[in-house]
Amino acid sequence: MKIRALLVGLVAVGLSAAAVAAEPIVIKFSHVVAQDTPKGKAAEKFKALAEQYTNGAVKVEVYANSTLYKDKEEMEALQLGAVQLLAPSLAKFGPLGVREFEVFDLPYIFDGYEALNKITQGAVGQQLLAKLEPKGIRGLAFWDNGFKSFSANTPIHKPEDLKGKKMRIQSSKVLEEQMREVKSLPQVMAFSEVYQALQTGVVDGTENPHSNLYTQKMHEVQKHMTLTDHGYLGYAVITNKKFWDGLPAEVRTQLDKAMAESTVYANQIAKEENDKSLAAVRASGKTEVYAPTAEEKAAFKKALVPVHKKMESRIGAELIQSIYKETGFDPAKL
Ligand code: LMR
Repeated sequence: MKIRALLVGLVAVGLSAAAVAAEPIVIKFSHVVAQDTPKGKAAEKFKALAEQYTNGAVKVEVYANSTLYKDKEEMEALQLGAVQLLAPSLAKFGPLGVREFEVFDLPYIFDGYEALNKITQGAVGQQLLAKLEPKGIRGLAFWDNGFKSFSANTPIHKPEDLKGKKMRIQSSKVLEEQMREVKSLPQVMAFSEVYQALQTGVVDGTENPHSNLYTQKMHEVQKHMTLTDHGYLGYAVITNKKFWDGLPAEVRTQLDKAMAESTVYANQIAKEENDKSLAAVRASGKTEVYAPTAEEKAAFKKALVPVHKKMESRIGAELIQSIYKETGFDPAKL
Protein backbone atom coordinates (compact mmCIF):
# COMPACT_ATOMS: atom_id res chain seq x y z
CA MET A 1 0.00 0.00 0.00
CA LYS A 2 2.74 2.37 1.08
CA ILE A 3 4.78 1.63 -2.02
CA ARG A 4 1.84 2.28 -4.33
CA ALA A 5 1.11 5.55 -2.57
CA LEU A 6 4.76 6.50 -2.95
CA LEU A 7 4.72 5.66 -6.67
CA VAL A 8 1.60 7.72 -7.26
CA GLY A 9 3.19 10.58 -5.32
CA LEU A 10 6.45 10.46 -7.24
CA VAL A 11 4.77 10.26 -10.63
CA ALA A 12 2.63 13.24 -9.61
CA VAL A 13 5.75 15.32 -8.94
CA GLY A 14 6.91 14.68 -12.48
CA LEU A 15 9.03 11.53 -12.31
CA SER A 16 8.39 9.07 -15.09
CA ALA A 17 7.18 5.62 -14.13
CA ALA A 18 10.42 4.19 -15.56
CA ALA A 19 12.55 6.40 -13.36
CA VAL A 20 10.45 5.48 -10.35
CA ALA A 21 10.79 1.83 -11.18
CA ALA A 22 14.57 2.28 -11.17
CA GLU A 23 14.36 2.71 -7.38
CA PRO A 24 14.32 -0.87 -6.10
CA ILE A 25 12.15 -2.17 -3.31
CA VAL A 26 14.57 -3.13 -0.54
CA ILE A 27 13.95 -6.33 1.42
CA LYS A 28 16.11 -6.74 4.50
CA PHE A 29 16.54 -10.41 5.37
CA SER A 30 18.04 -10.83 8.82
CA HIS A 31 19.19 -14.08 10.40
CA VAL A 32 21.45 -15.25 13.21
CA VAL A 33 23.58 -18.03 11.71
CA ALA A 34 26.70 -18.01 9.55
CA GLN A 35 26.44 -17.64 5.79
CA ASP A 36 27.94 -21.08 5.31
CA THR A 37 24.96 -22.97 6.79
CA PRO A 38 21.76 -24.36 5.25
CA LYS A 39 19.82 -21.20 6.23
CA GLY A 40 22.64 -18.84 5.28
CA LYS A 41 23.00 -20.41 1.85
CA ALA A 42 19.26 -20.53 1.23
CA ALA A 43 18.95 -16.84 2.13
CA GLU A 44 21.63 -16.04 -0.47
CA LYS A 45 19.81 -18.22 -3.00
CA PHE A 46 16.58 -16.32 -2.36
CA LYS A 47 18.41 -13.01 -2.84
CA ALA A 48 19.85 -14.14 -6.19
CA LEU A 49 16.54 -15.50 -7.50
CA ALA A 50 14.41 -12.62 -6.22
CA GLU A 51 16.68 -10.02 -7.83
CA GLN A 52 16.82 -12.01 -11.07
CA TYR A 53 13.08 -12.71 -11.34
CA THR A 54 12.11 -9.11 -10.60
CA ASN A 55 14.75 -7.73 -12.99
CA GLY A 56 16.23 -5.73 -10.16
CA ALA A 57 12.93 -4.19 -9.04
CA VAL A 58 13.68 -5.84 -5.70
CA LYS A 59 16.97 -5.67 -3.85
CA VAL A 60 17.48 -8.18 -1.07
CA GLU A 61 19.98 -7.30 1.65
CA VAL A 62 20.94 -10.38 3.67
CA TYR A 63 22.33 -9.77 7.16
CA ALA A 64 23.83 -12.99 8.57
CA ASN A 65 25.25 -13.84 12.01
CA SER A 66 23.01 -11.50 14.06
CA THR A 67 24.72 -8.47 12.47
CA LEU A 68 21.41 -6.62 12.19
CA TYR A 69 19.27 -8.15 14.96
CA LYS A 70 19.58 -10.88 17.57
CA ASP A 71 16.90 -13.53 18.15
CA LYS A 72 14.38 -11.61 20.20
CA GLU A 73 14.93 -8.25 18.54
CA GLU A 74 14.42 -9.62 15.05
CA MET A 75 10.87 -10.74 15.82
CA GLU A 76 10.01 -7.30 17.18
CA ALA A 77 11.67 -5.60 14.22
CA LEU A 78 9.61 -7.68 11.79
CA GLN A 79 6.37 -6.75 13.49
CA LEU A 80 7.38 -3.10 13.44
CA GLY A 81 8.30 -3.32 9.76
CA ALA A 82 12.00 -2.48 10.29
CA VAL A 83 13.00 -5.76 8.61
CA GLN A 84 11.04 -7.65 5.95
CA LEU A 85 12.22 -11.26 6.04
CA LEU A 86 13.38 -13.59 8.79
CA ALA A 87 13.80 -17.32 9.17
CA PRO A 88 13.73 -17.94 12.93
CA SER A 89 14.01 -21.42 14.27
CA LEU A 90 10.66 -23.04 15.03
CA ALA A 91 11.70 -23.05 18.69
CA LYS A 92 11.49 -19.26 18.84
CA PHE A 93 7.80 -18.61 18.23
CA GLY A 94 6.57 -19.24 21.79
CA PRO A 95 7.39 -15.74 23.06
CA LEU A 96 5.27 -14.40 20.18
CA GLY A 97 2.33 -16.35 21.59
CA VAL A 98 2.32 -19.08 18.94
CA ARG A 99 3.03 -22.08 21.14
CA GLU A 100 2.07 -24.71 18.60
CA PHE A 101 5.38 -24.33 16.78
CA GLU A 102 7.07 -25.91 19.79
CA VAL A 103 5.64 -29.23 18.64
CA PHE A 104 8.76 -29.44 16.43
CA ASP A 105 10.91 -29.42 19.58
CA LEU A 106 9.38 -32.56 21.06
CA PRO A 107 12.22 -35.05 21.51
CA TYR A 108 12.35 -37.83 18.93
CA ILE A 109 9.00 -36.91 17.33
CA PHE A 110 10.61 -37.07 13.86
CA ASP A 111 12.61 -40.10 12.90
CA GLY A 112 14.49 -38.26 10.15
CA TYR A 113 13.87 -35.77 7.34
CA GLU A 114 11.27 -37.88 5.58
CA ALA A 115 8.92 -37.94 8.57
CA LEU A 116 9.57 -34.25 9.20
CA ASN A 117 8.83 -33.21 5.62
CA LYS A 118 5.45 -34.93 5.76
CA ILE A 119 4.54 -32.23 8.26
CA THR A 120 6.41 -29.18 6.98
CA GLN A 121 5.45 -29.75 3.35
CA GLY A 122 1.92 -30.95 4.12
CA ALA A 123 -1.42 -29.75 5.49
CA VAL A 124 -0.32 -29.58 9.14
CA GLY A 125 2.54 -27.27 8.17
CA GLN A 126 0.17 -24.95 6.30
CA GLN A 127 -2.21 -24.86 9.28
CA LEU A 128 0.70 -23.93 11.52
CA LEU A 129 1.84 -21.09 9.27
CA ALA A 130 -1.73 -19.73 9.23
CA LYS A 131 -1.50 -19.27 13.01
CA LEU A 132 0.97 -16.42 12.43
CA GLU A 133 -1.54 -14.21 10.58
CA PRO A 134 -3.21 -12.69 13.67
CA LYS A 135 0.26 -11.56 14.75
CA GLY A 136 0.67 -9.56 11.54
CA ILE A 137 3.08 -12.17 10.18
CA ARG A 138 2.85 -14.19 6.98
CA GLY A 139 4.52 -17.60 6.97
CA LEU A 140 6.07 -18.25 3.55
CA ALA A 141 7.90 -21.56 3.90
CA PHE A 142 9.62 -24.09 6.10
CA TRP A 143 13.37 -24.49 5.65
CA ASP A 144 15.17 -27.52 7.05
CA ASN A 145 18.25 -27.55 9.17
CA GLY A 146 18.80 -30.81 11.00
CA PHE A 147 18.84 -33.08 13.99
CA LYS A 148 20.57 -32.09 17.21
CA SER A 149 23.48 -33.50 19.16
CA PHE A 150 24.19 -32.75 22.81
CA SER A 151 27.60 -31.28 23.60
CA ALA A 152 29.51 -30.55 26.82
CA ASN A 153 33.00 -30.76 28.25
CA THR A 154 32.43 -34.19 29.78
CA PRO A 155 31.22 -37.33 27.96
CA ILE A 156 27.46 -37.79 27.50
CA HIS A 157 26.69 -41.47 27.01
CA LYS A 158 23.49 -41.68 28.99
CA PRO A 159 20.76 -39.26 30.11
CA GLU A 160 22.21 -39.14 33.64
CA ASP A 161 25.38 -37.60 32.23
CA LEU A 162 23.43 -34.38 31.69
CA LYS A 163 22.36 -34.13 35.31
CA GLY A 164 23.29 -30.83 36.97
CA LYS A 165 24.73 -29.34 33.78
CA LYS A 166 23.79 -25.82 32.70
CA MET A 167 22.54 -26.29 29.16
CA ARG A 168 21.91 -23.44 26.75
CA ILE A 169 18.57 -23.72 24.96
CA GLN A 170 16.49 -21.66 22.55
CA SER A 171 13.41 -19.87 23.90
CA SER A 172 11.08 -22.89 23.92
CA LYS A 173 9.17 -24.30 26.89
CA VAL A 174 9.41 -27.75 25.34
CA LEU A 175 13.19 -27.53 25.31
CA GLU A 176 13.11 -26.27 28.87
CA GLU A 177 11.06 -29.32 29.90
CA GLN A 178 13.33 -31.61 27.88
CA MET A 179 16.36 -30.41 29.87
CA ARG A 180 14.54 -30.64 33.19
CA GLU A 181 13.53 -34.19 32.33
CA VAL A 182 17.20 -35.21 32.50
CA LYS A 183 17.78 -32.98 35.53
CA SER A 184 19.95 -30.47 33.75
CA LEU A 185 19.53 -26.71 34.17
CA PRO A 186 18.18 -25.03 31.03
CA GLN A 187 19.38 -21.51 30.25
CA VAL A 188 17.61 -19.57 27.50
CA MET A 189 20.14 -17.50 25.58
CA ALA A 190 20.38 -15.71 22.23
CA PHE A 191 22.29 -17.69 19.62
CA SER A 192 24.84 -14.88 19.23
CA GLU A 193 25.91 -15.30 22.86
CA VAL A 194 26.36 -19.06 22.97
CA TYR A 195 30.00 -19.37 21.92
CA GLN A 196 31.17 -16.96 24.59
CA ALA A 197 28.93 -18.50 27.24
CA LEU A 198 30.45 -21.90 26.51
CA GLN A 199 33.96 -20.51 26.43
CA THR A 200 33.66 -18.73 29.76
CA GLY A 201 31.70 -21.49 31.47
CA VAL A 202 28.50 -19.48 31.89
CA VAL A 203 26.89 -22.66 30.52
CA ASP A 204 28.36 -26.16 30.42
CA GLY A 205 26.83 -27.47 27.25
CA THR A 206 24.21 -27.11 24.57
CA GLU A 207 22.39 -28.87 21.70
CA ASN A 208 22.74 -28.14 18.00
CA PRO A 209 22.59 -29.48 14.51
CA HIS A 210 26.21 -29.88 13.40
CA SER A 211 26.17 -26.98 10.94
CA ASN A 212 25.40 -24.54 13.76
CA LEU A 213 27.94 -26.03 16.13
CA TYR A 214 30.72 -26.01 13.57
CA THR A 215 30.16 -22.61 11.95
CA GLN A 216 30.00 -20.91 15.36
CA LYS A 217 33.20 -22.74 16.37
CA MET A 218 31.48 -24.25 19.39
CA HIS A 219 33.49 -27.43 18.81
CA GLU A 220 36.55 -25.43 19.93
CA VAL A 221 34.99 -24.95 23.36
CA GLN A 222 33.14 -28.27 23.78
CA LYS A 223 35.24 -31.37 24.32
CA HIS A 224 32.44 -33.90 23.80
CA MET A 225 29.50 -34.29 21.49
CA THR A 226 27.07 -37.19 21.23
CA LEU A 227 25.09 -38.05 18.11
CA THR A 228 21.77 -38.37 19.89
CA ASP A 229 19.60 -36.92 17.07
CA HIS A 230 17.17 -36.27 19.88
CA GLY A 231 15.36 -33.35 18.34
CA TYR A 232 14.88 -31.29 15.22
CA LEU A 233 15.89 -27.70 14.49
CA GLY A 234 14.48 -25.97 11.42
CA TYR A 235 12.93 -22.69 10.33
CA ALA A 236 9.83 -20.84 9.25
CA VAL A 237 10.53 -18.11 6.72
CA ILE A 238 8.33 -15.19 7.68
CA THR A 239 7.51 -11.71 6.49
CA ASN A 240 5.54 -8.73 7.68
CA LYS A 241 2.03 -9.38 6.34
CA LYS A 242 1.24 -5.73 5.63
CA PHE A 243 4.47 -5.32 3.70
CA TRP A 244 3.94 -8.49 1.65
CA ASP A 245 0.30 -7.70 0.86
CA GLY A 246 1.30 -4.16 -0.13
CA LEU A 247 3.78 -5.28 -2.79
CA PRO A 248 2.76 -4.84 -6.44
CA ALA A 249 1.07 -8.13 -7.42
CA GLU A 250 3.56 -8.90 -10.20
CA VAL A 251 6.49 -8.41 -7.83
CA ARG A 252 4.88 -10.66 -5.21
CA THR A 253 4.33 -13.39 -7.79
CA GLN A 254 8.02 -13.38 -8.67
CA LEU A 255 9.03 -13.37 -5.02
CA ASP A 256 6.72 -16.33 -4.33
CA LYS A 257 8.45 -18.18 -7.17
CA ALA A 258 11.90 -17.29 -5.79
CA MET A 259 10.81 -18.45 -2.33
CA ALA A 260 9.44 -21.76 -3.64
CA GLU A 261 12.71 -22.50 -5.44
CA SER A 262 14.87 -21.42 -2.50
CA THR A 263 12.85 -23.74 -0.29
CA VAL A 264 13.56 -26.71 -2.54
CA TYR A 265 17.23 -25.73 -2.48
CA ALA A 266 17.32 -25.26 1.33
CA ASN A 267 15.78 -28.65 1.93
CA GLN A 268 18.07 -30.32 -0.59
CA ILE A 269 21.28 -29.07 0.99
CA ALA A 270 20.37 -29.31 4.69
CA LYS A 271 21.48 -32.89 5.32
CA GLU A 272 24.58 -32.59 3.18
CA GLU A 273 25.67 -29.38 4.94
CA ASN A 274 25.20 -30.98 8.35
CA ASP A 275 27.12 -34.08 7.28
CA LYS A 276 29.95 -31.87 6.00
CA SER A 277 30.06 -29.98 9.29
CA LEU A 278 30.13 -33.22 11.27
CA ALA A 279 33.07 -34.43 9.19
CA ALA A 280 34.83 -31.10 9.80
CA VAL A 281 34.25 -31.33 13.56
CA ARG A 282 35.72 -34.84 13.54
CA ALA A 283 38.68 -33.71 11.45
CA SER A 284 39.38 -30.80 13.80
CA GLY A 285 40.21 -33.27 16.59
CA LYS A 286 38.93 -30.72 19.13
CA THR A 287 35.69 -32.47 20.04
CA GLU A 288 35.32 -36.16 20.64
CA VAL A 289 32.30 -37.28 18.65
CA TYR A 290 30.49 -40.19 20.27
CA ALA A 291 27.99 -42.39 18.44
CA PRO A 292 25.72 -43.95 21.06
CA THR A 293 24.92 -47.66 20.87
CA ALA A 294 21.35 -48.74 20.11
CA GLU A 295 20.81 -49.38 23.84
CA GLU A 296 22.16 -45.97 24.77
CA LYS A 297 19.94 -44.29 22.19
CA ALA A 298 16.95 -46.19 23.54
CA ALA A 299 17.76 -44.91 27.02
CA PHE A 300 17.74 -41.30 25.76
CA LYS A 301 14.40 -41.92 24.05
CA LYS A 302 12.90 -43.46 27.15
CA ALA A 303 14.09 -40.53 29.26
CA LEU A 304 12.94 -37.79 26.88
CA VAL A 305 9.73 -38.92 25.20
CA PRO A 306 7.64 -38.37 28.38
CA VAL A 307 8.05 -34.65 27.50
CA HIS A 308 5.36 -35.17 24.82
CA LYS A 309 2.66 -35.94 27.38
CA LYS A 310 3.80 -33.19 29.74
CA MET A 311 3.62 -30.57 27.01
CA GLU A 312 0.22 -31.64 25.69
CA SER A 313 -1.66 -28.87 27.44
CA ARG A 314 0.73 -26.23 26.06
CA ILE A 315 0.90 -27.40 22.47
CA GLY A 316 -2.42 -29.19 22.03
CA ALA A 317 -3.01 -32.95 22.20
CA GLU A 318 -4.77 -32.88 18.84
CA LEU A 319 -1.80 -31.35 17.06
CA ILE A 320 0.59 -33.89 18.58
CA GLN A 321 -1.74 -36.72 17.61
CA SER A 322 -2.06 -35.43 14.05
CA ILE A 323 1.74 -35.57 13.74
CA TYR A 324 1.89 -39.09 15.18
CA LYS A 325 -0.71 -40.09 12.60
CA GLU A 326 1.23 -38.63 9.67
CA THR A 327 4.62 -39.93 10.71
CA GLY A 328 3.67 -43.20 12.37
CA PHE A 329 5.45 -42.27 15.62
CA ASP A 330 4.06 -44.23 18.53
CA PRO A 331 5.31 -43.36 22.04
CA ALA A 332 3.93 -46.65 23.35
CA LYS A 333 6.34 -48.56 21.13
CA LEU A 334 9.56 -47.39 22.78
C1 LMR B 1 19.74 -21.47 17.91
O1 LMR B 1 19.44 -20.42 18.51
O2 LMR B 1 20.42 -22.36 18.40
C2 LMR B 1 19.28 -21.63 16.49
O3 LMR B 1 17.93 -21.31 16.43
C3 LMR B 1 20.04 -20.76 15.55
C4 LMR B 1 19.51 -20.92 14.16
O4 LMR B 1 18.90 -19.99 13.65
O5 LMR B 1 19.73 -22.00 13.59
